[in-house]
Amino acid sequence: MDQICIIGGRPLEGTVQVGGAKNAALPILAACLLGGGDCEIDHVPQVRDVSTMVKLLQLLGVIVQGQCGKYTLNAETVQSVVAPYELVKTMRASILSLGPLLARLGEAKVSLPGGCAIGTRPVNLHLRGLEMMGAEIQVEHGYIHAKAARLQGARIDLDFPTVTGTENLIMAACLAEGTTTLHNVAREPEIGDLCAFLTKRGAKIHGVGTDTITIEGVRALHGARHWVMPDRVETGTYLMAGAITGGNLMVRGCITDHIGSVLKKLQETGVDLTEESEGVRIRRTGSLRSADIKTLPYPGFPTDLQAQMMALMSIAEGTSVLTETIFEGRFLHVPELHRMGASIEVDGPHAVIKGVATLTGAPVMASDLRASAGLVLAGLAAEGETVISRVYHLDRGYEKLEEKLGALGANIKRMRETA
Ligand code: EPU
Repeated sequence: MDQICIIGGRPLEGTVQVGGAKNAALPILAACLLGGGDCEIDHVPQVRDVSTMVKLLQLLGVIVQGQCGKYTLNAETVQSVVAPYELVKTMRASILSLGPLLARLGEAKVSLPGGCAIGTRPVNLHLRGLEMMGAEIQVEHGYIHAKAARLQGARIDLDFPTVTGTENLIMAACLAEGTTTLHNVAREPEIGDLCAFLTKRGAKIHGVGTDTITIEGVRALHGARHWVMPDRVETGTYLMAGAITGGNLMVRGCITDHIGSVLKKLQETGVDLTEESEGVRIRRTGSLRSADIKTLPYPGFPTDLQAQMMALMSIAEGTSVLTETIFEGRFLHVPELHRMGASIEVDGPHAVIKGVATLTGAPVMASDLRASAGLVLAGLAAEGETVISRVYHLDRGYEKLEEKLGALGANIKRMRETA
């Protein structure tokens, strides 16, 4: 297993290019299942979750060509309806095959994703929505088995604006008979990107970006070309890397409208942010100030940047309160940050962070994708050496992380774990 070794204390300087968004690429790749015709998808991040999704689609019978961020997919010949446990257990986003398979082939058998490090993460809202569209669903032997001759348009009110749940229901509704209205949907920009792709394929979707989306079902979708939106979580992670190291960084190719809540909180911490034509520049010369943060569905502060923000708050002057409202178990980075000298107390969904003057390098363990990113940021700011193990979590969602940070002046390298 690989480890990442960082010698901290160097301010990051230069320009970093943001890649395609993992959480937009995954539903867009899954949406290729919805019909025949070539789908050319560009700006796909080269991360492990994307390879897993490609593997799943190939297993289902999709012909996938290309590499290095550009794929052509053709789902004309899809036959299998089974997303097996072996793949789903490595990537929960495999659940995104459920809606498209059911709508296209009338049946789907998708392994039920279990809980994961950040919470129990049920999929009841995905299933209830599909049932309201006429699907018969049984959960047995660890699999969701869904059947429907043809899904029927319906009015569906989501109890919570689930991101992949919204995506699954939109995809399913594209081929349903009649009109589906989804209320209280998630408004994450990745959903907008998925809808843009589906619309290019001939889907009829209205209300994108609002909390009510209406889909008029069509018989079939055709091929289309699409360029995946920039990754807003990667953008935020690099901005925070600039902030935590007292650097001067240009984060190029991002969409600032997608990170409004993040820029606002960063501004509160006392960093300089300037929007330039190519992206956002972050500069920090003085000390960081504390800020209170609450994760919320978009356009609120994203849970996927909570661990990184906590690393930042660990060395900010004063006391910050960080409240996690999306996932109940997303504080696994806290004990690791303690090992680096941070002062954090967790009380239910709240973390109270008393800023310390400096963090100190230590061996730490990554527990999930974004927690790992938080530990990388802490390591970049800490005195001495930080060795992060289980970095396969990072590889799931960050493209060329060591390369990009190294080019900005970080002392970071990947090593094989020694016994
Ligand atoms: N929920 C339910 N029932 C459901 C679905 C969700 O109770 O049927 C609950 C969850 O347990 C959670 C909350 O609703 O407490 C929000 O979950 P959501 O369904 O929105 O999350 P997700 O779709 O599983 C996506 C991203 C996550 C990101 C969350 C929240 C993808 C592939 N994944 O997950 O990304 O944290 O939305 O924004 O888009 C990551 O990239 O590291 C990551 C975990």
